[in-house]
Amino acid sequence: MALLDIVTYPAPILGKPCKLIENIDEDLVCLVEDMTETLYDAPGLGLAAVQVGVDKAMLVYDVAEDEDSEGTGLKVLINPKIVHTEGKVTSENEGCLSVPEFRADVPRFACVTVEGVDQDGKPVKIDAEGLLSIVLQHEIDHLDGKLFIDRISSLKRSMYKRRVAKAMKAEG
Ligand code: NI
Repeated sequence: MALLDIVTYPAPILGKPCKLIENIDEDLVCLVEDMTETLYDAPGLGLAAVQVGVDKAMLVYDVAEDEDSEGTGLKVLINPKIVHTEGKVTSENEGCLSVPEFRADVPRFACVTVEGVDQDGKPVKIDAEGLLSIVLQHEIDHLDGKLFIDRISSLKRSMYKRRVAKAMKAEG
């Protein structure tokens, strides 16, 4: 296993849709392991492959709500799709490992149904609400080349972009 570098905005790869995964090979299993380690090290709730520079439709997440549960709540989703949505909600203080030092409230669906396959290639269907629903929408956005800052007001977004531009200039 290895810790992977997390790609941050404005890296162009974060703005491009990912490729669907056609077979689950050894490389992919390896990537899942490395992404898991990277997720827990960060730490974060979810991580999409594109955030470690791999433009494949895969993500890992751990939204363990029961702290007493044994082991981890790590889940792997390959080629996930939102097939149903319900209601509207605003996430509070949403953040992203690829958008460091910035948080915002983001308009989201209250509930989503997600279909995909797990790391064994078995079909999975998840009915999510609450935090899990937000995390899944956030991570699936990554696979579509979208960041949460694409879903906030242009005023807030330009504030963040100016800050990044300034920091990059300062670094030379
Ligand atoms: Ni993110």
